[in-house]
Amino acid sequence: MKRILLVDGDPAALRLLQQELAVLREACDLSFVAGAAEALALLEQSTYDVVLTDIHLGGMGGLELLAEVKRRYPQVVRLAYSGCAHQDLVVRGLAVAHQVLPKPLSAELVWGTVSRACALRDQLGSAALLTLVSGLHRLPSLPSVYEELVTVARDDSSTIDQAARIIVKDAGLAAHLLHIVNSVFFNLRRTVVSPAHAVALLGLETVSALVLSASVHQTLQTAESDRATVASLQRHGLAVAQSARQFVSMEEVGRLALDQAFTAGLLHDLGRLVLETQMPAECRAVRQLMEGERLTDVEAERVVLHATHAQVGGYVLALWGLGAAVVEAVVFHHEPRSAHRREFSVLTAVHVADGCAQAERSGMESGKVDHEYLAEIGFADRFAQWKAAV
Ligand SMILES: [Fe+2]
Ligand SMILES: [Fe+2]
Repeated sequence: MKRILLVDGDPAALRLLQQELAVLREACDLSFVAGAAEALALLEQSTYDVVLTDIHLGGMGGLELLAEVKRRYPQVVRLAYSGCAHQDLVVRGLAVAHQVLPKPLSAELVWGTVSRACALRDQLGSAALLTLVSGLHRLPSLPSVYEELVTVARDDSSTIDQAARIIVKDAGLAAHLLHIVNSVFFNLRRTVVSPAHAVALLGLETVSALVLSASVHQTLQTAESDRATVASLQRHGLAVAQSARQFVSMEEVGRLALDQAFTAGLLHDLGRLVLETQMPAECRAVRQLMEGERLTDVEAERVVLHATHAQVGGYVLALWGLGAAVVEAVVFHHEPRSAHRREFSVLTAVHVADGCAQAERSGMESGKVDHEYLAEIGFADRFAQWKAAV
């Protein structure tokens, strides 16, 4: 049973919240307190899975409370909620909270968010995964060029030339980017000749994601023998990114989800790239097991490595601070039902795009698409249209 600690400084709001969430008493153990000091005292006495706090608390504010929880109890899922969804506040909130929820809180919203956040924490915090990643020589760090591009993207007054200047500082990376943009995937009618041209045509978000992917693939390919594997994983990532974004645009779920689907698609097999380049012998054993025992890739990985490439990829992306939607899509791209999300999401798009890409390679009808999952979220009838659009 999940243990949730709720913090709200307004006594009337706290009472309302107790009434609204009473239906969850069967599924989780709820404690309600009126301030940060009481919350910290309770956390010292017993273990909680989730702390959910109003951002606007008297005394120590909600974000300060979550920062303290992050420092003292890093395994606890931290959620905040706010009546005013001011952009600055949400961005500040996301530095310490896993998610910021809008007011008023409904039992459905709280339960959905808590289940998903705990599923992700359980995947990324498993002892087997931590043993696996601590055995790797090195984890790729977030490329500084990507961080610089994200800073430029957030500034409304920045120009295309500013972004282009950041990219051309690394000539090899700029060449790699142009190579990808001019590949068949983008189907552009004219040749893209410069990073500035690429940004003007594709938008800064898409180019930033491509730069991130190109840089990580370049960094991880240290041995000549890795060249073919790295190139094939990069091609596969591009194909999945394009299709995932296409599916999101067909479902019209917003501009942000388009960029998230593209980024998650590009990097969904980042864990495989990490494992193939750093644990080649174990990866050969995984392939042998898949062939010998007719296991899927994640099943064979669990036998050999005790964790999966999806977990490794999600772990790295979470370390880099990429948003929950992207991390969730990567962690659950082979097992979408485990994410506890019951609507169309970036995860759905990446899962189906990956299945379609595998189907194309293997000549199967729909690869490893989980049709029961699509039926559960009410999108089974959309599969044929998505597949036709690939
Ligand atoms: Fe995968
Ligand atoms: Fe894949």
